[in-house]
Amino acid sequence: MALWSGRFEEGVDESAQDFGASLGIDRRMYRQDIAGSIAHAKMLAQQKIIRDEDGRAICQGLKDIEDKIDSGQFVWDEADEDIHMAIESELTREIGEAGGRLHTGRSRNDQVACDLRLYAKELLSRLMEGNCRLRETLLEAARKDLGAVLPGYTHLQHAQPVLFSHHLLAYFWMLARDHSRLARAFEAADANPLGAAALAGTSYPLDRGLTSELLGFSSTMPNSLDAVSDRDYLLDLEYACSVSMMHLSRLCEEIILWSSGEFGFVTLSDGFSTGSSIMPQKKNPDFAELTRGKTGRVVGSLVGLLVTMKGLPLAYNKDLQECKEGAFDAADTLLGCMSCVEGMVRTWKTHPQRMLEQARKGFGAATDVADYLVKKGLPFRRAHEVVGELVLYCERKGVELGELSLEEFRGFSPLFEQDVTKGLDPVGVANARTTYGGTALSSVKLQLQEARQVLARDAVPPGRP
Ligand code: ARG
Repeated sequence: MALWSGRFEEGVDESAQDFGASLGIDRRMYRQDIAGSIAHAKMLAQQKIIRDEDGRAICQGLKDIEDKIDSGQFVWDEADEDIHMAIESELTREIGEAGGRLHTGRSRNDQVACDLRLYAKELLSRLMEGNCRLRETLLEAARKDLGAVLPGYTHLQHAQPVLFSHHLLAYFWMLARDHSRLARAFEAADANPLGAAALAGTSYPLDRGLTSELLGFSSTMPNSLDAVSDRDYLLDLEYACSVSMMHLSRLCEEIILWSSGEFGFVTLSDGFSTGSSIMPQKKNPDFAELTRGKTGRVVGSLVGLLVTMKGLPLAYNKDLQECKEGAFDAADTLLGCMSCVEGMVRTWKTHPQRMLEQARKGFGAATDVADYLVKKGLPFRRAHEVVGELVLYCERKGVELGELSLEEFRGFSPLFEQDVTKGLDPVGVANARTTYGGTALSSVKLQLQEARQVLARDAVPPGRP
C-alpha cells in the first residue's frame, strides 16, 4: 500500500505503478535522503514538534537503514515508488509509530529537492576532484616534454611551430575554466529548500536555519514555491559537464590524430587502446573516440532538461522526476571520461623527434622571414608578398625555406643577408615568441608556474579555507 493511499478506493494499476516509479534511478541518493530526514527529525524535536524520544528513535532507525543499505542487506521493494517512500516505509516497519511522525511539516516535494541538491553537491565535488587530477597529469606531461616542438595548426594546416607543452597547457586552461563552472554549479546547488513543504511552507514552527546548518547548506531558500520547483542547479551541472565534455572531445580528437600513422606524435599505451577482431595489426584509440562520442549524450541531457523545464507551471509537477536521470548520467559520463583521458595522457609515449620533423615541413617560418624583411625596413604588406612568392618557388622546387641558398633568397629581395637562414629552425621560431602567453620556452615556463598556482588553489574542496 502506498503511503498516500488514504483517499483511494482502489490500488494503482500495476503497469502504471511501474511507469511512475523512480526507485531504480533515485535509490543512489539514499545517503542524502537519510541525512535530510535526520536533520528534519532533529529540528522537529528541537522545536518540540515531535517528542525527543521519537526524534531519537527516528534518527537511530534511519542510521540502521543506512547501515543495511551500505552493507547490501536492505531488501528493495520495487512497489515503493521512490527512495523517499522506500526508506520511510522501512523506518515505520522497524520503529513503529514514531516513524510515522518523521514526515510532519514535510512533503516529498521539498524532500526530493533537498536530496537532489545534496547529491548534486556530492557529484560536483567528485567532478572537481577528477578535473584537478586530469589537470595535474596534463601539467606533468607538459613538464616532461618541455622543449619538444610540433607544428601549430590553423585550418589543420601547418601554421607556426609551437611547443608541445604549450599545446597541452591550452587544455589545462580550458579545464581550469571547467572547474570554475563546476564550482558555480556547486554554489547554485548549495541552498536549502527543506521546509518549503509541498509548495507553500507549513504552519508548524520549523527552524529552517537549523536544517540548513545541520546539512551544511550555506543559505536557506527564501521562496517555498521556488524551493520545490527549481532545478537550475542541475542545468548548471549539465552545462558545466557539457562544456567540459566538449573540451575532452577536442583533446581526444587530437589524440586520435596524433596517434595515427600520418602524424605519429604519440603512441597510446596498450592499457588504453584496443585491437580489431579481424585486422591483427590494429591498435585503435577507442577510448578517445568513445569520449568524443559520449559528448553528444551529455549535451543531450542539458537540452533534455531545458525542454522538460520550459513548460512547467509552479510549483511541483511530476515532470520534475525526469530531471535526475540525465543529470546523473552527465556527471557519471564526465567522471568516467576524465579518468580515461587522464590514463591515456599519463601512459602515452610521445615522439618529440617526429614532431620536430613535421614542424620542419610546411613553411612554419614564413611569418618570421616576412618579419625579417620588416626589420630591414620593408612594409609588412610588401614583405608578406615577397615571402609568398618565395614559398611558391619552394613548393615548385619541392624544398623547404631552410634548403634555399642565400642567392635564391636574394633573388626575391636584396634585403636578405646571410643571417636569414639562422631564423628558420622551428625551435628558434617557437622560442622567439616571447610575449606573455606565447609559445617560447621562457613564456611556457612562466605559464607552467601560473598553472601550478591555479591548480593548488582549485585543489582545495569548496567550503574549506
Ligand atoms: N519521486 C518524486 C520525484 O522524484 C518525488 C516527489 C513526488 N511528489 C509528488 N507530489 N508526487 O520528483
